[in-house]
Amino acid sequence: MNPQEIIDLEHETVLGVYGRAPFVLERGSGVTLYDTEGRAYIDCVAGIAVNALGYGDAGINQAMAEGMQTGLLHVSNLYHTAPHAQLAQLLVETSFADKVHFCNSGAEANEGAFKFARRYASAQGHSDKTNILAFSNAFHGRTMGSLAATPRPKYQDPFKPLMPGVRFADFNDLASARAQMDHTVCAIIVEPVQGEGGVYPATPEFLAGLRALADEYDALLIYDEVQCGVGRTGHLWAHQGYCPQDGSCNCDGRCPYEPDIMTAAKPLAGGLPIGAILVRQKVADAMQKGDHGSTFAGGPFITHVAHHVVGRIAMPEFLADVTAKGQLLRDMLEEINSPHIVEVRGKGLMVGVELDIDAAKVINKGYARGLILVNAGPNVLRLVPPLVISEAEIVQVVKTIGEILGDE
Ligand SMILES: Cc1ncc(COP(=O)(O)O)c(C=O)c1O
Repeated sequence: MNPQEIIDLEHETVLGVYGRAPFVLERGSGVTLYDTEGRAYIDCVAGIAVNALGYGDAGINQAMAEGMQTGLLHVSNLYHTAPHAQLAQLLVETSFADKVHFCNSGAEANEGAFKFARRYASAQGHSDKTNILAFSNAFHGRTMGSLAATPRPKYQDPFKPLMPGVRFADFNDLASARAQMDHTVCAIIVEPVQGEGGVYPATPEFLAGLRALADEYDALLIYDEVQCGVGRTGHLWAHQGYCPQDGSCNCDGRCPYEPDIMTAAKPLAGGLPIGAILVRQKVADAMQKGDHGSTFAGGPFITHVAHHVVGRIAMPEFLADVTAKGQLLRDMLEEINSPHIVEVRGKGLMVGVELDIDAAKVINKGYARGLILVNAGPNVLRLVPPLVISEAEIVQVVKTIGEILGDE
């Protein structure tokens, strides 16, 4: 089939909920994607912050080959498997969490987190403690609960009624959060670095203030690290980067930046679909047999691959490299001499470039110049490349963006 036939076939047979780029991707290698016409693109989207180790990674291929050798692509959660337990162990050892529950996507992880928070409250005997506090600009997913916590009328309105009991405060505004708090709130959910909403990092004061607020009202603090987690910010978990002493401080055993629940997904298995909900023991204790579950979640093949991915990304050298490359990318973007750049922001390799023009215009021009970008809102270019992007590729990316903006 030629590219136009493929595009036409998709139009005929696939629901039209996505605006797709005007080419057909065929293969990838490293940080480069190739279309069916053999055109190469440097990929600064990575499947929207998913393909952290890029395309055709030898280690992932090896892990997949090992995972297939057992013949166990899937077994039910009614049975034990080693990869499932070993991935949970790795996540526990590299985070605040005591227990992990697997699922299949980011939205599903947040749904689970809401259920766990309500279960925790009901286990404490609070039948009316069911509300969730979320923030302006947040994105938590498209299911009825996660969408209820995603305050965008365009996404929400056609599907109402959504899950009741979600209220909102302004992101990075502690007074606004406090004004929304009361004893009916069972959880506060926040992205330490907002992604879809425009790449906005939370301030340290905001995260520490939410921790204190949650404790004051005996609510759980949920970090949605679906997009900013797993090395994206140069720390395995984005919130770990908030500690001024990189975890070596002595916070009397209680870090002011740590949550009670954290959700992760996108890059966990390097491109295969998986989500995870990481929790403190007190949350785990509230969940009883039969309270939650999933057919596919945490199967042996995918968890074996995820173990390889997380193990590599968690290496201090790997994370330091992400930090250095993220700094280089932001510094170079700052140096572009264009009146259209309003602000460059972000952490690690999660970068937003706010423009005074439509980001879609720049994205479309990028395709013609061999660059794949995505937006985060109407006028923010988002750069979330594979974490293995090289300095030379970063230089090429910034040069291309500079050229495009130069023509505007
Ligand atoms: C912060 C955040 N949470 C949740 C989600 C939803 O994840 P998924 O698309 O895997 O359901 C996303 C997706 O972009 C996200 O960025």
